[in-house]
Amino acid sequence: MAQPVIYAENGIVIDNRARGYAVYVVDADLRPLTSAGAQNQAISALAKGMKEVLGEWHVYSLAIGVPPNTWKERFLKTEHPLSVDHVAAGLKKSAGVLFERRVYIVVPISNKLTIQLKDNGKEFLQAAKRTLTHSVKRALRLENFHVQLLEQFEEERRVWHRKFRAFLKLHPASQVELETWLRHGFYRGGVAPDSRFPKNLPAFVSSDGVIHPQHHLGIWTHDGVLKESFYNLKVIQPTKNESYQTFYNVLRVPNEIDESDASGYDWVHQVEYMDIPVDVAMHIRVEDPIAARKNLRKKRLRAESQWKEYAEGGETPPLELEVDIEHTAELEQKLRMRDPLVHVKTVIGFGAESSDRLAEYRNLVQSNLALTDLVQPPADQLRLWQSFYPWGRGISQGYEIPMDAGVFAAGLPFSTLDFGDSRGFYLGKTLNERSVFMDPRRPAQELNMQPSILLCGGLGSGKTNTAEYIAATLYSWGAKGFIQDPKGHDYDNFYKTGARVNMIRLREEGAALNPFRLGVEGVERDLLDIVFNNVTHDDNTRDIRSALIGQALTAVKAQEVQDMHTFGNALAALRQAETREVYVLQLDLLLGMMGDLLSNPLGRVLFGKDSQGQTPQDYDVTIVDTSGLTIPNGTPKTLNERLSVALYYAVAGMGMGYFSNLPQSVLKFMILDEAWTLRKFSQGVDLVDNLLRKSRSLNIVPLMLMQNATDFANWGESIDGLFAWRFVMRQNSQVETAAALKLAGLDHEDAQYWYKVFASFRPGEGLVVDALGRVQQMQVEMLPHKLLAWFDTTPKADDGW
Ligand SMILES: Nc1ncnc2c1ncn2[C@@H]1O[C@H](COP(=O)(O)OP(=O)(O)OP(=O)(O)O)[C@@H](O)[C@H]1O
Ligand SMILES: [Mg+2]
Repeated sequence: MAQPVIYAENGIVIDNRARGYAVYVVDADLRPLTSAGAQNQAISALAKGMKEVLGEWHVYSLAIGVPPNTWKERFLKTEHPLSVDHVAAGLKKSAGVLFERRVYIVVPISNKLTIQLKDNGKEFLQAAKRTLTHSVKRALRLENFHVQLLEQFEEERRVWHRKFRAFLKLHPASQVELETWLRHGFYRGGVAPDSRFPKNLPAFVSSDGVIHPQHHLGIWTHDGVLKESFYNLKVIQPTKNESYQTFYNVLRVPNEIDESDASGYDWVHQVEYMDIPVDVAMHIRVEDPIAARKNLRKKRLRAESQWKEYAEGGETPPLELEVDIEHTAELEQKLRMRDPLVHVKTVIGFGAESSDRLAEYRNLVQSNLALTDLVQPPADQLRLWQSFYPWGRGISQGYEIPMDAGVFAAGLPFSTLDFGDSRGFYLGKTLNERSVFMDPRRPAQELNMQPSILLCGGLGSGKTNTAEYIAATLYSWGAKGFIQDPKGHDYDNFYKTGARVNMIRLREEGAALNPFRLGVEGVERDLLDIVFNNVTHDDNTRDIRSALIGQALTAVKAQEVQDMHTFGNALAALRQAETREVYVLQLDLLLGMMGDLLSNPLGRVLFGKDSQGQTPQDYDVTIVDTSGLTIPNGTPKTLNERLSVALYYAVAGMGMGYFSNLPQSVLKFMILDEAWTLRKFSQGVDLVDNLLRKSRSLNIVPLMLMQNATDFANWGESIDGLFAWRFVMRQNSQVETAAALKLAGLDHEDAQYWYKVFASFRPGEGLVVDALGRVQQMQVEMLPHKLLAWFDTTPKADDGW
């Protein structure tokens, strides 16, 4: 049967009786996995929102089988061998059918002819004539329509969009989304076909503004023959492929919901937790509270008088009547002029490639959708198939369930388990077996936010591996990177990705660095302060030292060769010219410290030569091994501690410096492993904050790794704004769990429960927050699998370190 539709454009579908339908697709809604408190708030907001959308509209929640081509398109590809391997491994993941839920909202718009009556109706008649041509023909079947009709529908589409936006994120359906919905009826339970709609439907617009579609839209959406049996439909596609579908009416939904705790009654959303594709159609009529009360009263009075008749006739009234009276009375009470009444007719539908498989699915659906009563009236399957479209006979009135807005909202009718980005690389799988894609560039490029990534988790929870996986992927997309490796060997195999690695081992007798060539304005000054001026407590002395360091630095800047030796010479020159006693004293102390540095193995690391070669343009990734540094827990006391802090700081600054020498257009990543060390001293805190705040403009994806969730406590409320993605992995204590829940945007009210969950996470598993703030439990899976072996961090006996 061809669909009775003739045209579609701009999220509007027009049927053959000049009726329009505004079609929207839901972008985002409640987060299904959040604390009960947050969920209750969201449910009550949705319930309140219902009064914005009085009238009739439909919700079609569809499990759409991802076609192989769509799956392929989700991978961002480059020529790099690692990218090629990744995509090859990822394509294998599409074996079996993958489903994605799309929630459509369809609002029927009547053809109102909203034209002012003026000039004793003359203009109206003319307008009517213009808008609907061939009126006789139209009564049977519309063939063409005036552009004004489309404009009227579009105006209404905008009006309804505003209304829904009060409580939901949604967008007018694109042409492809319209097509997917219109053709889904022939592919339910299977893979959606590739698109075949032309970008613009061929139509001819005559000079008087009449649009003549060249083909009826129904021809493009028609994909098979439906054969109805008692309890199922057989679909025979033009290719002779056969499949089966079946439909159930929903007879009852939970109605006794505690308003203060409405979570857990997600009677619609339950379909999303199944790993088979199940669709839901809901025909909704929202009645304003006053009218609703009146109607309910009428209904109750009618039922009561019926009951009386039974009773007076000496018969037992049917049980349903009593239930009805009770339920309406209850609803009447609840309504009390607040929220509107929502009348819902619900149909559950699913399909499979064989009738045996369909039988299996029946059992699964019956046992999984525990919150609803499902019934299957015989020989009504075609009508129920039709209920996924707004035309046709609709669902029988007998299945309409009046419910208060809270019950409707508690069903989470618009929620999906959508997570991650629609394109990117394959990050892994959610608990519900949904594939997760990630594009770390998207926050900066599309979402107008900082692209930073936070990874937090206990010992061996998979932070480093996850960061390395993201970094390797970005590298294969052409990014340059900087990695700070405090363990000293965790990133030793990064070169296997093909990256040209510049390995700097910053330790005694290792590589040296030059504080004056770090490439970032101001870093050398901070660094000199940490080394030379941080321990003195006397304000006066500090000021004098500060002035002297500043003068020496200015002198260095005027030289061609700039390094620690030049700095020492500048101090010596100042000493020679100085006569004031206190200044002489401080200069002598500073010069003495220069000597200490030179005789200290770690101190010598600061004496890197000024070879001008610190910016390694020829490398893809610079890894700095900082394992030789000892970071104090409080204020650094010994020289070694002070030097360690200074070097840590220098390394992070060095990374920033490298990047500022690369064009903005080059994508960069920066891993700060064990990033807590930088937050132990004020300059480090500033540097990290700076990095995070500027990451977008510098085109850097910073990855911050922390062991303790509590380390983020002093970052305050800024976490949301600072990080796009957040990976919260295994936690080993109740205190950490509470802090971890905060990081994931969840309250800590169920800390006891979550403690067990967090403690049970395997390496690479965690609660993950995506750039849009949605939370899912997921397992990171590195593709290709050889990455796991490359990135293994378990120390080996023969490593030689
Ligand atoms: N996604 C993953 N899938 C399977 N195994 C993983 C995954 N991520 C990590 N692992 C395993 O766990 C080990 C430890 O991971 P990793 O070094 O990334 O943890 P970490 O949190 O950085 O630990 P630490 O706190 O010691 O730095 C890895 O060597 C690897 O064997
Ligand atoms: Mg690690």
